[in-house]
Amino acid sequence: MPTLRIAVLPGDGIGPEVCAEAVRVLQALNLDLELYTADVGGRAIHAHGTALPEPALRMAQEADAVLFGAVGTPEFDKNPSASVRPEQAILGLRKALDLFANLRPVRTFEALLDASPLKPDIVRGVDLIILRELTAGAYFGKPQGQFGEPPERYAVDTTHYTEAEVRRLLIMAFELARARKKKVTQADKANVMATGRLWRAVAHELREEYPDVSYEDMYADACAMHLLRNPRSFDIIATENLFGDILSDEASMLAGSMGMLPSASLGDALNRHGYRRGLYEPIHGAAHDIAGQGVANPLAMILSAAMMLRWSFGLHAHAERIERAVERALNDGYRCRDIATPGARVVGTREMAEAVIARL
Ligand code: IPM
Ligand code: MG
Repeated sequence: MPTLRIAVLPGDGIGPEVCAEAVRVLQALNLDLELYTADVGGRAIHAHGTALPEPALRMAQEADAVLFGAVGTPEFDKNPSASVRPEQAILGLRKALDLFANLRPVRTFEALLDASPLKPDIVRGVDLIILRELTAGAYFGKPQGQFGEPPERYAVDTTHYTEAEVRRLLIMAFELARARKKKVTQADKANVMATGRLWRAVAHELREEYPDVSYEDMYADACAMHLLRNPRSFDIIATENLFGDILSDEASMLAGSMGMLPSASLGDALNRHGYRRGLYEPIHGAAHDIAGQGVANPLAMILSAAMMLRWSFGLHAHAERIERAVERALNDGYRCRDIATPGARVVGTREMAEAVIARL
């Protein structure tokens, strides 16, 4: 088996703790790994004055895949107008690697039904993917900024989409649906936004090419509501960058916790293995309130590593081994604090990873 060349960018807060455990799970699979690592985010700002130093970016560009922890620090959260910010690391990587499609699978584990604040009957059997556009929209549109002086300050964000950006994301949505439950829901605000109307128009053209896939338009606000009312009705939710960010945090509560949700960010470029180059990260943040205590849930990061094996290396059987081991650890009662219900066996980051490794 050829060498898997992976850039590990742990970042801030709990990022390094959960990354280390995901790497241990990969090592337990006896894969031929070549790991590189670099500072990104807040810690890179302190050491190098920028969130995404050139060597880290180059490392990510030269790797077959990137494992990314989390970025963000309290000092910058308190100062949102700082021009150098930890988040620039992840936004810069997404853009530089052209990772336009962000897959955020949400599936509920039977053992965790009680961990969700929603009723078990609502969340049982949920299996959907939020497919979020990741390199355009309000996150990158120009102009952006705050202008003027008090009391006449004003601020501008620009939601900008080209037809090509919309189409490539929607093609991914239809292709994914074809291999799953054959349904695409496109969430937009076509009733208010011009970009929403463009998304809808492009989707309507494309659906003709996928007669085997059922398609529906949905306003993003209604989608937020249906996600709680009837989450089983979804298969692929395709949506723009900002709505995808919001809907995926909401959807994480179906699975019980942000600590359970992995993600894959993919582009069209292929790596040396002939699969998509990708960046794999949990959807949760740096969680400084619990960093360094060894209590963070590593499962989102571990499941992200499984997605990496599947999407960037074609190692489906290995990916499934990880996913089944996670399920078994949960079935055997292991819980990190974020998913613990009264009476549960609460374990720390390391112990949870060990429970997974023991069940590979
Ligand atoms: C996410 C995060 C990021 C985003 C932040 C850290 C910039 O919330 O990946 O969902 O908004 O995309
Ligand atoms: Mg987010």
